[in-house]
Amino acid sequence: MNDPLVYLNGALAPLSEAKISVLDRGFIFGDGVYEVVPIYDRKLFRFEQHMARLFRSLKAIGIPNPHDKEEWRTLIDQVVAEHPADDQMAYLQVTRGVAKRGHSFPKDVKPTVFIMTNPLVPPSTEARRDGVPCVTMEDQRWLHCDIKSVSLLGNVLAAQYATERDAIETIQFRDGFLTEGSSSNVWIAKNGKLMAPPKDNLILEGIRYGLIEELCTAGQGAAGAIPFEARRIERAEVLAADEVILSSATKEVLAVSSIDGRPVGDGRPGPVYHKLYAAYQAAKAA
Ligand code: PDD
Repeated sequence: MNDPLVYLNGALAPLSEAKISVLDRGFIFGDGVYEVVPIYDRKLFRFEQHMARLFRSLKAIGIPNPHDKEEWRTLIDQVVAEHPADDQMAYLQVTRGVAKRGHSFPKDVKPTVFIMTNPLVPPSTEARRDGVPCVTMEDQRWLHCDIKSVSLLGNVLAAQYATERDAIETIQFRDGFLTEGSSSNVWIAKNGKLMAPPKDNLILEGIRYGLIEELCTAGQGAAGAIPFEARRIERAEVLAADEVILSSATKEVLAVSSIDGRPVGDGRPGPVYHKLYAAYQAAKAA
């Protein structure tokens, strides 16, 4: 489907015809927020959590939320219904709106609301089976990585750093401590225990972060027995981990096979990954 219908400011239109002003503050300043919501079998996965994060992001940068939760659901469902794929990835973006250029917030602007959806492209069979190579770099982003902002230059540069090195993701460190990937959260496993950096301003709280915490909690599916700790993780611990795992809407959970060319553990997806992957698939089917 080359020209799917998208939603822009109150109407559906073919993607090729949806247009915004060059004065949109998303274009001029990166002044906006977004969400990426996976859709399995035409149903929004973890919709409540994605909405809660969108509302948090909007509030954090002072953009009035243009829709309540049920309006959002209706709008997204409309776009999803028009798309032929059963499994999709919905992209929602809200910017502060269109105004004469000036840094501080303009008065009386209407937020720009955009929704599109694409077929969900899961990691390749090979990536699932073997894990994926990653590289590392110093985190060069701002200090509000908890806001899902469209100002993604730091993330773009980190992603490109990986691409140029034939890696799938760049694992970032700030002052010697693990933060996250360019577009994923990063987990390590050591002696059967799963660990991730705390949910603070230095990382985006992935919707998978909360899900994986739930999956680790005893009695909640196949991963029930995984002890979990959120704490600051030193670079040396990442390099010495038995397993390193990425999580994101598109990757779900994905094992890391190597970091900067050195194998993680035995270089194969490990037992914690396999448990989480199975539990994740069960959560999708539930
Ligand atoms: N990225 N950290 C960053 C910086 C991210 O961009 C993402 C997701 C995550 C994981 O969040 P979640 O589990 O909610 O997908 C963590 C999306 C997929 C993107 O930008 O396309």
